Amino acid sequence: MNRPIRLPKLAARKRRGGGGETISADLATSAGIDAVVEHVRHSSGPLDILVNNAGVAFLVPFESVSEDQFQQSFALNVTAAFFLTQGLLPHLAAAASIINISSYFANKMIPKRPSSLYSLSKGALNSLTKSLAFEIGPRGIRVNAIAPGTVDTAMRRRTVDNLPTAAQAELKAYVERSYPLGRIGRTRDLAGIAVYLASDEAAWTSGGIFAIDGGYTAG
Ligand SMILES: NC(=O)c1ccc[n+]([C@@H]2O[C@H](COP(=O)([O-])OP(=O)(O)OC[C@H]3O[C@@H](n4cnc5c(N)ncnc54)[C@H](OP(=O)(O)O)[C@@H]3O)[C@@H](O)[C@H]2O)c1
Repeated sequence: MNRPIRLPKLAARKRRGGGGETISADLATSAGIDAVVEHVRHSSGPLDILVNNAGVAFLVPFESVSEDQFQQSFALNVTAAFFLTQGLLPHLAAAASIINISSYFANKMIPKRPSSLYSLSKGALNSLTKSLAFEIGPRGIRVNAIAPGTVDTAMRRRTVDNLPTAAQAELKAYVERSYPLGRIGRTRDLAGIAVYLASDEAAWTSGGIFAIDGGYTAG
């Protein structure tokens, strides 16, 4: 959710001597997860921070959710976070920080935005966050989730652009009156909490689901 830097740009930065390692993988597959774990296994030094950010949102009515959409949603939003974390666990630093990118949709719904599948997957990610905080906390590893409100990204634009014009206008009016701070999020609105959770300043912060949503879920 942070400033969107596509992998090719990161790779270019690395070629210019900017440091860092990049790997491109389809995390919706076990082969992709294994490739990332293998890459890390052969990299130098343990990982300090793991952000499980990749996600997909099918906002379709409950009665028309297909099995394929269900599988895709769980593969990326839940299974990837679960098995990537499991595979990388031996390679995490003693005081590593794991940050799962959840969503307000785990607990709060929007009229005419059918979210049964997406909400279920983000609810599962919240449960994973809390259970892992409890289970691997004794190793010194912290596990938290960020639950953003609506943020202006490609994902949002894709789901909104698919709506009929009247529904888009209705959604815009709903958002304007529902967000106490009067607007949806920008990607940089999420940066501060991510930096905090990744840092030693959050050394005693674990098992939290942090709503960063302009006050939306306060109501
Ligand atoms: N936007 C919102 O309003 C909002 C609100 C709450 C929570 N979230 C959550 O925030 C996270 C980021 O969403 P976003 O809004 O930034 O969505 P986005 O613009 O669609 O970006 C999705 C991200 O997931 C990656 N991704 C997608 N499929 C993948 C796959 N099979 N394997 C590996 N990576 C894959 C994409 O990689 P590429 O860049 O390489 O395509 C991209 O980095 C998601 O977990 C989403 O559920 C978003």
